[in-house]
Amino acid sequence: MSAVVPKHVAIIMDGNGRWAQQRGLPRIAGHEAGSKSIERCVQACLDTGVEYLTLYAFSSENWKRPALEVNALMLLLENFLNQKRDEMVREGIRLHHIGRIQELPSVCQRKLREVMEATASNTKLHFVLALSYSGRAEIVDAVKSLVRDTAAGTVSEADITPELIASRLNTAGMPDPDLLIRTSGEMRISNFLLWQLSYTEIHVTKKFWPDFQREDFLAALEDYAGRSRRFGGV
Ligand code: IPE
Ligand code: IPE
Ligand code: MG
Repeated sequence: MSAVVPKHVAIIMDGNGRWAQQRGLPRIAGHEAGSKSIERCVQACLDTGVEYLTLYAFSSENWKRPALEVNALMLLLENFLNQKRDEMVREGIRLHHIGRIQELPSVCQRKLREVMEATASNTKLHFVLALSYSGRAEIVDAVKSLVRDTAAGTVSEADITPELIASRLNTAGMPDPDLLIRTSGEMRISNFLLWQLSYTEIHVTKKFWPDFQREDFLAALEDYAGRSRRFGGV
């Protein structure tokens, strides 16, 4: 493994439904199996020194799915937080969320707040869950907050810089992702971190998310380590 470890890895965890379909199982069985892949990635981050792991767990567009699947995903989130709370506290993992969590069932909102509070002083790994998240909605919310402040006279046109806009996003204070991984072979961003991915290196694997192993995560880090990042320079 090269010495160049990304500070922030973001993952579009895709292919749970197809993984289940291949086995003749309901889609939710794929989501359940996907929880194990999350555990493997978290452990790999702790072992390699990745400091931020952001997971696209539920998009704003995913509300369009059948209620049965949506409800099962919300229950899975609640169970995941219940099961992982103590381990996160112990392992130095701090939970964050991005997205409009006010749109989630109140039990999920309460659980998220509880685990965020319990892990607030941890610093080893920032574990960020994107829930009811949409990159465009996040930018809309940031623009609205700036318009309010402009109307109130606390922000002027000249103050509006990329840094000020970034400070109004859900990811304020976090570094931009260095590496984006997408599973299941799709070559698209699907409304994830539109602002923050400007110069992120992208690694796509054909594997479905439940099949994603520690070795696959390490292979993505290896791929990243071989990239030449230029940020528009030479
Ligand atoms: C990703 O897997 C999980 C979520 C979007 C919640 P999918 O459910 O999108 O699986 P596919 O893409 O249908 O196989
Ligand atoms: C993106 O996957 C959202 C999550 C992984 C949570 P989707 O399966 O929803 O995206 P599309 O429909 O393939 O673009
Ligand atoms: Mg999908």
